[in-house]
Order: sequence, then structure tokens, then C-alpha cells
Amino acid sequence: MAFSSSSYPQELTFPEGFGWGAATAAYQVEGGWDADGKGPNVWDTFTHQGGDRVFRNQTADVACGSYTLWEEDLKCIKQLGLTHYRFSLSWSRLLPDGTTGFINQKGNCFLKIEGIDYYNKMIDDLLANGVIPIITLYHFDLPQHLEDQGGWKSGAIVEVFDAYAQFCFGTFGDRVKLWLTINEPNTLALLGYEVGIFAPGISNSGTGAYQTAHNMIKAHAKAWHSYDSLFRKKQNGQVSIALFSPWIAPANPTSVADQEAAKRVMALSLDLFAKPIFIDGDYPAVLKSHVAAMSKKQGYPSSRLPEFTEEEKRMIKGSADFFAVQYYTARLAKHQENAEGELDILKDIDVKLFIDPSWQVSQQGSWVRVVPWGIRKVLEYIKDTYNNPVIYITENGFPQGDPAPLDDTQRWEYFRQTLQELYKAIHIDKVNLQIYCVWSLLDNFEWSDGFSSRFGLYHIDFENPCRPRVPYKSAMEYAKVIRNNGIKGPL
Ligand code: BGC
Repeated sequence: MAFSSSSYPQELTFPEGFGWGAATAAYQVEGGWDADGKGPNVWDTFTHQGGDRVFRNQTADVACGSYTLWEEDLKCIKQLGLTHYRFSLSWSRLLPDGTTGFINQKGNCFLKIEGIDYYNKMIDDLLANGVIPIITLYHFDLPQHLEDQGGWKSGAIVEVFDAYAQFCFGTFGDRVKLWLTINEPNTLALLGYEVGIFAPGISNSGTGAYQTAHNMIKAHAKAWHSYDSLFRKKQNGQVSIALFSPWIAPANPTSVADQEAAKRVMALSLDLFAKPIFIDGDYPAVLKSHVAAMSKKQGYPSSRLPEFTEEEKRMIKGSADFFAVQYYTARLAKHQENAEGELDILKDIDVKLFIDPSWQVSQQGSWVRVVPWGIRKVLEYIKDTYNNPVIYITENGFPQGDPAPLDDTQRWEYFRQTLQELYKAIHIDKVNLQIYCVWSLLDNFEWSDGFSSRFGLYHIDFENPCRPRVPYKSAMEYAKVIRNNGIKGPL
């Protein structure tokens, strides 16, 4: 189809069967942090320690109360008419210490039943209402017991994660057909283990992100193989990993050095994970050479970026059934050596990142700048770099500050522009995009920003013990889009 960006068709109809979803994550919505024997996770520990690491020292002990208010969430899902609902399992609600050993020894243990029943009900209710569940096994909330044993820094976690994944596939896989192993390993490796502003709050600058990314990739691949060999035949589902991807543009579009710098940032943020998994089991060459050279200069005996063995490469290569990507925003990259104030891992690749001041701010002070066209660029990049895979956007959204007006007309405008970009990606660029999920169904606990940053389609009053869910205007508009399978009427 040929039309210029200034002459869209009046109606944007998406392909038949396109999936319209919304997403949440266990720690951000459930609450019930110690209910019915749930074990603590790293975010419980991190928030309970205080120290201003989270906005106003808030915790998600109660959050949206979804652990007891699931029926209220279901009403929202039905009101929107979602075709898909993506949520995560709380690992330590199912396995209090993170391991299956405990459960295997006490097969009818009370703790186990509570956690399983909660998710069984969610899954059954969704299916009864014609909504397809997409389950994330792990969304940032590592059981504290596992963190105490080294967490993602330890290679031992690979087996433990695989055992947990097998437990989930075996327990829920008769009904759940779409799985994500790890949510945004790239964000977690960076913020949890390199910079330390997310739980578990470790700042091993220069090594933390690479070391933990390495173990997360192996854990994902092992779990995928378990599904493939033990469950796929009977359950017939699909398994992937949800990768965060910004769009990185050159600061000076005509500078070859900046163009190369932008490519290196895409390699660091997305390809570090996607290339091994989707292409050949190994990290991008440009990262291997840059990190090795910088490590040498710094006197390290070997590169700070670990290496996969040949056997590991074989295991990792091809370990995903679709490409799950999460897009929020864009940045500009400039080639600069040893850029002052820049993260060590960006110094590794000789880059300085910027924000284009003309990009609108969604919420004052937020990292999310409104760059809807970036989502089309990311999709095209994935298509070209990863052999035109089936793509699911498992998160995309825009925050509002607190208090947030229920009439969020401006925010819906951002969503509307995003949908136009998706339409162009599908119809002009021929990207194989099949599902789009909004982040998030509900306002929820936004990690370090606590409840001050609201991404929900439904507003929640966190002061009210009943946590009423009230639709923003965006929710009603999204419901129309879902009903029409696209945008009807004047743009
Ligand atoms: C995460 C969500 C988070 C959202 C908005 C994503 O990075 O997966 O948990 O709430 O972005 O910041």
C-alpha cells in the first residue's frame, strides 16, 4: 500500500485476528506480599529496607490488591474487550524459597496450593471469557532466598530457573499457550546489577550487567529447551523472552561516526540478548571487540563480557518461538570516547546518549519521551535483523504524573499516534506484528517511582482500601479500537 505519512486512510483496520492486550506484573499489582505463606522476593526486601531508594519509601505490600481483587481486574479486562491479558507469576508465591525441592518433598503442602489456586483461577476465568493468557514466568521479583545465594550473578541459577519453568509449564501449560521466560533481562541486568537502582540494588559497574545477562540468556535457553523437549508436543504452546528496546538514532544523522554509535547502542541494548537467541548463539562482534579492548586497557586479564562455550551457543541459538519486544521511548547517540558522566557500559562502546529536547515529555521528569515513530523503527529493525520474525509487542505505554486526570485526552493522542505507526509497520513495512499489549491494565507500583508514575488504563486510588478501578478516557478509546479492530472515523 502506498500512502505518505500526511495522507493516512481515514480508517485503520488491522489484520483479522490481530491481538489486543494489556499487561501487568505480579509485584506491581498483586500485594499480599506475605499472604498464605508467600516467600519474600528481592523487591520485598529492597522496599522494606527504606533509604529513599523508592519514591517516598513506598512498597508494593498492598499495591492494587490484585491478589484478593482479581475479579475486579477481570471486570476491567472484559470492559476493554481484550483478546490477550499478559501477567506474571510471583515465583516466591508458588515456590516460597524459589526452589522446587521444598514442594517435591511436601507434595500436598498448603503453601503450594494457595499460590497455584490463585493463578489457576485467573487462567480459568480468562479462558472462560475468551481472553488468551500470556504468562511471564519472572518479572523482576526474584525469590530472596535465591538472591542470597548469588542471584543472577551465580551460574547456579540457570538450573534453578529451569526447574521453576518446568514446574510452571507442568502446572499451567495445559491451558496456557503463550509464555515469556524473563521480562526485560536487559533492564534488569542494567538497573538491578550494574547501576543498582532496582532490586537487588547491586552496583557492579562494568561487570554486573554482562555477568547477569550471561546467566539470564542461559536460563532462558534452558527453559525453552525444556518446553521444547518435555511439553511442546502435548501442550503445543510457544515460548519466548520479553526484550526492552528503545529506538536509538544518531545525534547527527549525517555523521557516519554517530550512525555507527547508534548501531552500537542497539547492539548493547537489544542485540546482546536477541542475537544469541535468534541468530547464532553468540554476542554481537562489535560488542565483543569493544568490551575486550576496553577491558584490556583497564588491566583485566580477560574481557568483562563473558564467553559462551560452543555447547552453550548451540543451546541458545534458536531458543525462541516469536519475538517479544517492549517499546517506550527513543534516545540519540553520539560517538564520544570516555564520555563524562556516562555509564561504564556505554563508555565501553564510545557513546554518549542524549534526549532530543523537541520530544514531548509524557510525565514531568519521566524517562519516557513521547516518540511514537520510534516503535516503527524498532519493528523494522527487528524485521531486518532477525529474519522477519513473528513479533508481539508485549508492552508499550505512556505515564502520567500523580494526580492523573481521568480525562487523559493527551495521553490517548500518544497511543493513537502509536497505533498509526503500527499500522504503517504492518501495511507499508510488512512487519509480521500480531499482538499489541498496552502497559498497563492498571496504575501500579512503578518500581523506583512507586505510585507517582501512572501507566494504567484504569486509575487506582492507592489511599482507598478498596482500590477502586476507574477507567481513564484512554481505556474507553482502547475499547473502541479493540471493538473495531483498529481506528474508525477521522484521524
Ligand atoms: C517494565 C515494567 C514497567 C514499565 C514502565 C518496563 O520496563 O517491564 O515493569 O512498569 O516498563 O516503566
